[in-house]
Amino acid sequence: MGKRMNLEALVPAFAKGGDFLVSERAHFRPVRPDAWAHAQMKAFAYNFLRLMTDPTPRKLIIAIDGPAGAGKSTIASRLARKLGYVNLESGAMYRALALKAIKSDLSFDDEAALFKLAHDSHIELVPSIGGNHVLLDGCDVSVRIRERDVTEAASRVSVHPRVREWMVARQRELGVNGGVVMEGRDIGTKVFPDADLKIFLDADPVVREQRRMEQQKIKGEVAANLAADLRERDRRDRTRAASPLMAAEDAVVIDSTKMSEDEVLAQVEELAVSRLKK
Ligand code: DC
Repeated sequence: MGKRMNLEALVPAFAKGGDFLVSERAHFRPVRPDAWAHAQMKAFAYNFLRLMTDPTPRKLIIAIDGPAGAGKSTIASRLARKLGYVNLESGAMYRALALKAIKSDLSFDDEAALFKLAHDSHIELVPSIGGNHVLLDGCDVSVRIRERDVTEAASRVSVHPRVREWMVARQRELGVNGGVVMEGRDIGTKVFPDADLKIFLDADPVVREQRRMEQQKIKGEVAANLAADLRERDRRDRTRAASPLMAAEDAVVIDSTKMSEDEVLAQVEELAVSRLKK
């Protein structure tokens, strides 16, 4: 038995042929000649236990971006539930503003008026099991904002840089403490460029259209209209000048065209767990 030494002292002490046992406070003390493997095993066990028992584990910021119909909302909500995080649908905020613009009879092209409208609005996301409830100035508009006119308007109001700046600032406030899965179009590129995990969830446009039709149980002309709307919205979201929809350079791109929802979730969860261990 020798005197205790700290982590920094380990390497030079080893060079001299010492052997060490890792104590819980990351101190080392010489014990016996073959102790290197033993010390490594102890260190592994210590880290593993710390990870499993840490009362304040690191809470990640997870960004999920992608086009409409790729399955972002479902994956974000299921992942958040698994991790005990909240999921935030940033698109719902653009939808709430769009609804207010419709009600106020504002032009979707009037950036200054839309910015002022946003500034004077109180938009709240309330995470729940089936997605986010959305409160606009205290009124629950969760159902109304999913209707066709608001969907189209949301895509149009979101092209304006000043509107986006306002939204991005609010979204950062919501997610800054971590423990959040935020989904949208620019979460990994603009809202949280330093997110712990960035996923870009994509799928073939035809498959995305079909999934939406099945989700909404529609056929015939209504379905054809939905497909046309989706394509137009995609085009606008991808080609707008301010923060167009695109994968961040460090995003993991998942093409869900031939994957089941469970398969996508398993892949994303595995990535999240690997980030938690870092
Ligand atoms: O995700 P969603 O379909 O609810 O989004 C509605 C619109 O809001 C979408 O057409 C583009 C816009 N949006 C955006 O520009 N940036 C985001 N982070 C989220 C949505």
